[in-house]
Amino acid sequence: MELPHHEDVSPASGTLAPRTWYAASDAATLSLDGRWRFRLSPTADAEDETFAAEGYDCGAWDEIAVPGHWVLQGHGAPQYTNQLYPFPVDPPRVPTENPTGDHLHTFDLPADWPRDGEALLRFDGVESCARVWLNGTALGDFKGSRLTHEFAVGELLRPEGNVLAVRVHQWSAGSYLEDQDQWWLPGIFRGVTLLHRPEGCARDFFVHAAYDHRAGTGTLRVDSEVQGRVTVPELGIDVPTGEQVVVPVEPWTAETPRRYDATLATPGERIPLRIGFRTVAVEDGLITVNGRPVLFRGVNRHEFHPETGRTLGLDTMRADVLLMKRHNINAVRTSHYPPHPAFLDLCDEFGLWVIDECDLETHGFQAVGWRGNPVDDDRWTPALLDRAARMVERDKNHPSVVVWSLGNECGTGRGLRAMAEWVRARDGSRLLHYEGDRSCADTDVYSRMYADHAEVERIGRGEDEGPRERGGLPFILCEYAHAMGNGPGGLGEYQRLFETYRRLQGGFVWEWIDHGIAHPEHGFAYGGDFGEELHDGNFVCDGLVFPDRTPSPGLVEYKKVIEPVRIEGHGPDGTVGITNLHDFADLSHLAFTWSFEKDGRTVADGVLAVPPVGPGGRAEVKLPPPPRRDPDAETQWTVRATLAEDTAWAPAGHLVAWAQLPVEQRVMLPVPGGAAPVRDAAGRRITLGAATFDARSGTLLSFRDREIRELGLDVWRAPTDNDNGMPWRPEPSVAARWRALGLDRMRHRVDAVEPGADGLTVRTRVAAAASDLALRTEYHWVSDGSRLHLRMTVTPQGDWPVPLPRIGIRFGLPGAADRVRWFGGGPGEAYPDTAAASMTGLWESDVDALQTPYVRPQENGARAGVRWVEVGGLRVESDSAPAFTARRWTTRQLDAARHRTDLTPGDTVWVNLDSARHGIGTQSCGPGVLPRYELRATPGPTSFSCVFSRTDE
Ligand code: GAL
Repeated sequence: MELPHHEDVSPASGTLAPRTWYAASDAATLSLDGRWRFRLSPTADAEDETFAAEGYDCGAWDEIAVPGHWVLQGHGAPQYTNQLYPFPVDPPRVPTENPTGDHLHTFDLPADWPRDGEALLRFDGVESCARVWLNGTALGDFKGSRLTHEFAVGELLRPEGNVLAVRVHQWSAGSYLEDQDQWWLPGIFRGVTLLHRPEGCARDFFVHAAYDHRAGTGTLRVDSEVQGRVTVPELGIDVPTGEQVVVPVEPWTAETPRRYDATLATPGERIPLRIGFRTVAVEDGLITVNGRPVLFRGVNRHEFHPETGRTLGLDTMRADVLLMKRHNINAVRTSHYPPHPAFLDLCDEFGLWVIDECDLETHGFQAVGWRGNPVDDDRWTPALLDRAARMVERDKNHPSVVVWSLGNECGTGRGLRAMAEWVRARDGSRLLHYEGDRSCADTDVYSRMYADHAEVERIGRGEDEGPRERGGLPFILCEYAHAMGNGPGGLGEYQRLFETYRRLQGGFVWEWIDHGIAHPEHGFAYGGDFGEELHDGNFVCDGLVFPDRTPSPGLVEYKKVIEPVRIEGHGPDGTVGITNLHDFADLSHLAFTWSFEKDGRTVADGVLAVPPVGPGGRAEVKLPPPPRRDPDAETQWTVRATLAEDTAWAPAGHLVAWAQLPVEQRVMLPVPGGAAPVRDAAGRRITLGAATFDARSGTLLSFRDREIRELGLDVWRAPTDNDNGMPWRPEPSVAARWRALGLDRMRHRVDAVEPGADGLTVRTRVAAAASDLALRTEYHWVSDGSRLHLRMTVTPQGDWPVPLPRIGIRFGLPGAADRVRWFGGGPGEAYPDTAAASMTGLWESDVDALQTPYVRPQENGARAGVRWVEVGGLRVESDSAPAFTARRWTTRQLDAARHRTDLTPGDTVWVNLDSARHGIGTQSCGPGVLPRYELRATPGPTSFSCVFSRTDE
C-alpha cells in the first residue's frame, strides 16, 4: 500500500537544500503573515485537493491568523501529553482522525518587486507537516515542525492575485519524531515569507570566526556558495570569501558579547553580518571557550506564549532574553527544537551560551519497550539527517550557539550516530550533546538530567562508574531542578557542587516557562482542561516564570543562587570577601555599596571600594566602623553589587548580587507575666489579662477585643507539586503518605484546661482517625494585662514514619485584614531549601499580594525568618524566626482547588506561623528534600513561643 505523503517517513519533497537564515540589506522580502482563509476537516482526506486549484471559491471558509495554531483560534482543542503518544504507536502510520487545516492566502506583489532573479517561499515552522501549492501548482511537502523549509517559486509568481494553498495535518510520520513534553499544537505557527533572490546572491554562506586567546587574535574566513568580498571596517578587513585573515580582536563571550559589523558582498547582494569571534573546545576534560572553562547557569526554554502557543513575537523573545540576563542566567538549551531564528540573534546580541537542540524526540517508544524506535531504524535515517542539517545550516552563523544537541530522549540507535557524524563533518567548531546515550559514544559532553546531589558529587570527584571514554568528559546537567509549582528546592546545593568540582560545568533548570494556556474559566489551563482522553495534567506548568512571564519565586531564588559575584564576610568585624565568579568579565562593570540596618531600617549607607578583580579572583575589603552599638536592636550590613552603568539588558543600579552580614542579634523575647486567669461566673469563659478563652476547650476567643478563631497546632499544608512527586513512580509520594496518615484531617482532643498561678495551660492530643500516632500539644498562656505570651510544646507519640509538613499555629482573623507588615525575610516567599533570596528587612504587602499564583494552587507565599508580623490589628513577635502565611481561604480550600479561579476569598484571614517546615525539594521530577531540610517529627518535643499585642490603638 502506498502511504500518503504525511505518513511517509521521507522528510520532504520539492524543497530546497537548507541554508543559513539571513536577511540581505538590499533584497526585497514580503511577509505573508496575516489573516488567511481556513477550513478544518476531521480527517486527512475528508476534502479533496481542489481547494488548491485556481479559481476555488473559499467564500464559506473561516479566517485565522498566520502564524498561529488553529487549536488556539477556536478550531479544535489543544492536547497535552508528556511522554506518551496521543495515538496508537504504529510508525509511520497515524490515526484516521487527523485534524487537517486547509489554508488559503491571496497576495499581490509590491509594485517595486524586482523582475530579475529568483523568488523563494519560506516557511519557518509548520506543525506537523505541510503540502504547498502556489497558483494551482503543487510545490511539494515537508515535515520537521520547527525547521525552515523553502521552495523556489519565481516562475509561478504574478504581480497580482497569487494564491497560496497549504494543507496541514496535525499528525504525520513526523509526529513520531516530535514527542516532546508539551502541548500538541498544529498549524502554521511561524512566519511565511516570500524572498526575492537576485542573481549572484550568496544563497548560503558560513562564517568561521575563531579566537586564539594566547595571541589575542581572531581568525576569520567566510565561505560562500557564490564568491564575494568580506569587509569588516573596524578591523580593516577586506578579503575575498574563502580567504582566511588573522587580526587582533576582542572575543565574543556570553558575558562580553562583542560583535563586529561586517558585510558580505556578492555580485547580487550585500548581507550585513555581525561577527563574534570565539573558539569552543574540550581541553583537559573541560568545556572551554576562548581557552577558559565556562560554567553554565542555564535554563531550558520552550517557545511558549499563553495566548499564541509556540507563535512568539519578537517582543516576547526579547522579553525572555532580558529576563534571563536580569536573573544572572548565562545559558539556554533550546529544548527541544531549534527556536525561532530571531531568538538566536538576541542571544548573540545580549550574550547567552546556547545549546541548540534538534527537533527530535521519540520518548513515547519507551512505553513500548523502545520497539520500532525510529532512531534505530535505518528507514528513518534520512529524516533524522534532514533534521540535523536543517538545524545546523540554518543556525551555523550564530556565535551564541556553542553546542549542537542531537535531540532529546530518543533512546539510542544508529540514526543518532549518523546524525553525529554528519554534524561533526559539517561543523567541527562546536561541541556535540545528547543526553540519552549513557555511553557518550557520540558526544563531547557527559550530560544527565535530574541526577541527585550525591550522584553529581560523585561525578564531580570522578568516582562515577561508567564507560571508560565517559570518564574524561566534562559534565553538565542538561536538565535539573524541576521548576514545577512551589520550588525548586536544593538549588544552592547544586550550585556549590558546580563551583567546587571543575568537571561539573553547570546545568540548565527545567524549565523556563509554565505552559499554561489562557482560559476564560480557569485562568490558565493545563492538561485535561480541554477534555483530553489522555493527558499529563499540570506537568506542563513547570517553569521559572508563570505563563504571563511574571517571575516566580523560583526564578528569584535561582538568580540569587547563581549570582556571578560571591559576597561573604563577618559582620561584627566588618570584613567582606568578594569573589568574582564570572568566567571572562572583571568587576569593573559593578558598583558596590553597603548599608547598615537597625531592626530592618537603614541607618547609614555608602560606597564600598572594590578593586576590579579579574575572573576567578578574590578581594578582601573592609566595611567602615559600624555605627554605635545598641544591645536592644538587631543590626546587620547589607552589601550590594549593582550595574555601574546602563547595559543593553538592564539599567545602571540593577541588582546583580548581594549579601547580608549580621552584626548583633536581638535579645530574647521578654515573657510578660502577672495576670492571673479568671473564670467567669457561668464557667464558660476564662479571662487572662485582655485575652478571653473558652473554658471547656481552652481555645483563645479574643484578645483585646479582637476576635480570633480556631487558634491551634497546625501540621498540614496543601501539597506542592514536589510533595506530590512523580505520578508514574510506583512508590508513594510524601504527600500520599501524609494523606494516608491523615495529616489533612487531624482532630484536636482537649485533655485539660488548667488555670494556674502562672497562667493558663491547655493540653491536647492531636491525631487522625484510624491512627495511633499523635502529637501531644501543650499551650501555655501568660499575660501582663496588655500582651499575651504563648508557649506551645509539641511531643510526638509513636514512631512517625514521615516528615511533617509543618509545625506551628494557625488562627483566623475575621473581618478586614488587608495590610501586612513584617520584619524578617522578604519580599518574596521562602521555604527551608528555597530561602537564598530571602532578604531580612522591613516589608509590607497586602494579603492578596502575599499569594504566589502557582497555576495549580498549592502551599505558597510563606515569608520566613520573621521577627514580628502585623496583620489585622495584631502584632505577633517571636524569637524563633518563624515563617508566616496569611490567606483569605483555608488550607483545605487551597488543597481542593485545581485552578486559581477556584479560590474565592472568605471573610476571614487565616494566618499560619510555623516554627518548623519541611523543605520543598524537586521530586516532581528529581530528588526529594535533602535530609537537612526534612522536618522529622521524632524525636520531640519541639516548642514555639510568640507574643501577641495590638497595633491599632
Ligand atoms: C525530561 C524531559 C523534558 C520534560 C522533563 C520533565 O525528561 O526531557 O522534556 O519532560 O523531563 O518536565
